[in-house]
Amino acid sequence: MSDLIHPAALRLGVNIDHVATIRNARGGDHPDPVRAAQIVAGAGGDGITAHLREDRRHIRDSDIARIQDATGLPLNLEMAATAEMLDIALRHRPHAACIVPERREERTTEGGLDAAGLHNQLAPIVARLADAGIRVSLFIAPEARQLEAAMRLKAPVVEFHTGEYAHATGEARAAELRKLADMAALAAKNGIEPHAGHGLTFDNVQAVAAIPQIAELNIGHFLIGEAIFTGLDASIRRMRDLMDAAR
Ligand code: PXP
Repeated sequence: MSDLIHPAALRLGVNIDHVATIRNARGGDHPDPVRAAQIVAGAGGDGITAHLREDRRHIRDSDIARIQDATGLPLNLEMAATAEMLDIALRHRPHAACIVPERREERTTEGGLDAAGLHNQLAPIVARLADAGIRVSLFIAPEARQLEAAMRLKAPVVEFHTGEYAHATGEARAAELRKLADMAALAAKNGIEPHAGHGLTFDNVQAVAAIPQIAELNIGHFLIGEAIFTGLDASIRRMRDLMDAAR
């Protein structure tokens, strides 16, 4: 059976950072990202994604084990390529670690990781995570240069940054989509599992979900925002339905 006719199932990883953002606005314990993780599991999500940032503006250190224990779902821990984060990841051994660029002043993860330019910094971190049995993913722009760098680093997974696609319109959006499709095909051809995420919504998810090689989408801000109006369970179920319909 050709992959193109029957693409493999597409997993949905739900990024619950913004539940923690709302909690942190008042410094207490509500809303608890653990409760969000439990709802993700009940609504058909396939994984939990969370970013422990250097400034801890999203989840806190103590959330990691609580999230891991809350459901049977795999945790994809987003982390900067630093000694501190490596140490934390090795202690908690999440299912996956997605290495992301991090600048303190940015509002969100703007742009992909420069895997090509940072090879020497990334190589020992990728190797240590892989040796610990953690599935390493690199959050990169859909560019051949970055994908080739991920291959040299022996990353088993790349997550393509879909921000440019999400923010573009018209022909520019079509061009971004072609880049995502071409790079997903090239990744799969070279034995790397392609994922995608950032800025995905009900309106723009289906074109990305239809790319047959893409195995996982990680979606956060829109789902948590939509949950204000419809509830988290409903927003995840609708996203899941749209993804499945596009496959
Ligand atoms: N994937 C990665 C690696 C991210 O850092 C983020 C959050 O910036 C997402 C996916 C989810 O993006 P969004 O919150 O825009 O859905």
